[in-house]
Amino acid sequence: LKSQLISADLADKATIYGQILKQLHTLLEGESDEISCMANTVALVHQTFPFLWTGFYRVVGDELVLGPFQGPVACSRIAFGRGVCGTAWKNQTTILVPDVEAFPGHIVCNAASQSELVIPLKNSSGQVCAVLDIDSTTLNYFDEVDRVGLEAICLLVSRLIYP
Ligand code: SME
Repeated sequence: LKSQLISADLADKATIYGQILKQLHTLLEGESDEISCMANTVALVHQTFPFLWTGFYRVVGDELVLGPFQGPVACSRIAFGRGVCGTAWKNQTTILVPDVEAFPGHIVCNAASQSELVIPLKNSSGQVCAVLDIDSTTLNYFDEVDRVGLEAICLLVSRLIYP
C-alpha cells in the first residue's frame, strides 16, 4: 500500500510539472528578457510547490550574482566552485543535495534550508550562464521527478534567454 501511495504521489507531482511547463511555454512565449523570464519562472514554481526558496543566480564574470527569486533574503554573490550553486556551475551539472549538512562547503543563506536542488542553465554552446536554486526546509525533499521537471523548465527558459 505504501509503495502504491508513493507512486501515486509521484505521478501527481509529474503531472503538475507537466502543467507548469505548458503554462510557462505560453507565459514566456516571445519573451527573451532575462529578468522578465526568470521572474515569472520563479513566481510560478514557488507558488506551485511548498519550497523555502526558489531563485536564479546569474554568471557575471567569475561569480554567481543573485537574480530574481522568491523566499527569504539570500547571499548576493557566490564564487566559482563554492557551495552547491558554485559546484553545479563548475561541474556543469545538476546537483541534488538530500542533506545540506553533508555537502562540503555548503553556503548557509538560511538556517532553515535542509535539502536543495541546483540546475545549471546553458547557452547553445553548452556554457553555463545561470543556475536555478531550489531549497526546502525538509530533509531529503527532492527526488527524480523534481529533477526531471525542473530541468525541463530550465531548458525552456535557457532557450529563450540564452539562445
Ligand atoms: N545554499 C546555496 C547558497 C544559496 S542559498 O541557499 C539561496 C549553496 O550552497 O550554493
